[in-house]
Amino acid sequence: MSLSMIQVVSSRASLVLPVALAIAVAAAPAVARGATPIRGDSDSNGRLELTDAIFSLSFLFLGGRGPACTPIADSNGDGTLNLSDAIHLLSYLFLGGPEPGPLSQGELNECLGIDPEAVARGMKEYESADPDGNFFSCATCHSMSPDSESDVIRPGHSLLNSLGRPSYKGAAFGGPGLESYVSAANVCRNDWMAISSSTPPFDFVPWTVEAPRFTDLVAFMKSLQTRDSEPALDIQIVAPARTGPPPASASGERGCELFNRSCMVCHGVGAVGNQIAPSLVEQLPLCENDPNLCRRKDPVTSACFEITQACLDDPDYVRYRIRLSGPDHPDQVYKVPPGFQLAGSVMPFWTADKLSDDQVEDLVAFVALARQAFREGKPTFDCTQEPPAEGKVLRRGSFVRLFHNVSGVAEELDTRKIRLRDFNYDGGGISVKVWLYSSAGNIRGGRAIGPDLFGQPQTNATLVIDIPADLPSDQFDSVSIWCVSAKQDFGHALLEAVP
Ligand code: HEC
Ligand code: HEC
Repeated sequence: MSLSMIQVVSSRASLVLPVALAIAVAAAPAVARGATPIRGDSDSNGRLELTDAIFSLSFLFLGGRGPACTPIADSNGDGTLNLSDAIHLLSYLFLGGPEPGPLSQGELNECLGIDPEAVARGMKEYESADPDGNFFSCATCHSMSPDSESDVIRPGHSLLNSLGRPSYKGAAFGGPGLESYVSAANVCRNDWMAISSSTPPFDFVPWTVEAPRFTDLVAFMKSLQTRDSEPALDIQIVAPARTGPPPASASGERGCELFNRSCMVCHGVGAVGNQIAPSLVEQLPLCENDPNLCRRKDPVTSACFEITQACLDDPDYVRYRIRLSGPDHPDQVYKVPPGFQLAGSVMPFWTADKLSDDQVEDLVAFVALARQAFREGKPTFDCTQEPPAEGKVLRRGSFVRLFHNVSGVAEELDTRKIRLRDFNYDGGGISVKVWLYSSAGNIRGGRAIGPDLFGQPQTNATLVIDIPADLPSDQFDSVSIWCVSAKQDFGHALLEAVP
């Protein structure tokens, strides 16, 4: 493995960190990705057919090539490979015999070359803030499900399958880009996670490819991976499209709903602030030109020729912070529009594909509305919807707590709704949904309903969620608080008929 060194300079913390340019690829999985390992598919081509039986027989009796892993050739699932496996498969294919059963999680791990303990540790790493840093974790900004499926819009793109991208951090948007995954992760850790407002920056230690925390994170990502390779991100950091007040077409109501799906992760519902990021509705103590916020720089001389006013009452400032927040790398790890400059902050920028220019205007209109409501002493400007009409309880169960403090009661209402009462959940995890499943089957065969609960802690709350029209009541009897991306049960309730 070649270890050439590059230097990434953080302007914010003035740290110079040497980052090993080494691709982090653990041992290649035994079974090709794309084709999920299936019991009976001895030749790993993704289909059960005659050639699988021939493959097994040739391996057993003619010294032919062996299967990629034992479980896929163990058609009858008895733990050994022998003639009876080929017979079992042939009987299924041609005589109406039983289908080879599903692989157990342990067998799947074996075939995919995954250590389940490393995966569990890696999930924790992904979800947790650095002990010495601020409150951000990778999960604050990145999802592990495809971006479009999530109700929450995060500033970073999904890291699902990202191990297989050819380059990272901006090669796609015209910057130099980084070749290795570990260096991209280190840039995020240094730029965004290492800096805490309450304590001075600590001595940031970049991960090497062998760092246990990094290899665990890679194991977690591999456990969810569905493809070996994918193209580099094609994204763009853009400058604000407008100046001055938002246009009449902008809507603060829409902006409020959008805020609660995106900015909320850090600034809290309704922009009132939380432990991660400040309130945007309270007055700024200072509302004046901030020499640190050099919005435009001469690309040649680096002289600043437009200082930004740090003032939440100034729509230009709010736009600037949405589009051009983030650490300002002198070597332009991130390519910004010519003449513009990132704000040098720990808040991430929002690229063109994450928020449209119209959406930015809605957000600007919302911040103005929310600030006005606050000034007038009104209760927080809030667009969260009232829970829909309720109904009679048909079935009820209490949550068994497994992770993230899940507790409370789940109820099925005759109005085709699930109601959670006295519901508690700490907001942790990755992509977290209410999950309906049948306790007689595999919990993974369940179905997600309602919005993503990630990042929205609940205390003795009531939530009411529609049951999809095409999901009859007799197809589920249990409700889980389910981490969709990690396929993890945080707690579940068995619904029992209420007399
Ligand atoms: C404060 C938000 C934030 C945090 C925290 C954060 N990132 Fe990022 N990350 C971003 C943004 C924004 C980008 C650039 C846009 C993009 O690539 O999605 C990015 C880019 C990346 C990329 C490059 C993606 C590509 O293909 O170019 C990787 C890899 C990455 N982050 C990994 C991580 C890991 C691992 C962690 C946790 C250790 C982490 N990030 C924490 C915001 C964050
Ligand atoms: C990953 C967490 C995170 C997300 C998501 C996020 N912010 Fe921020 N934001 C911060 C932090 C932390 C600060 C304060 C530190 C700084 O200025 O960077 C901040 C500061 C700001 C400021 C400047 C506040 C001031 O007092 O000057 C504005 C405006 C702002 N955010 C708007 C938004 C909007 C609008 C969104 C959604 C599009 C958003 N933020 C999403 C973390 C976040």
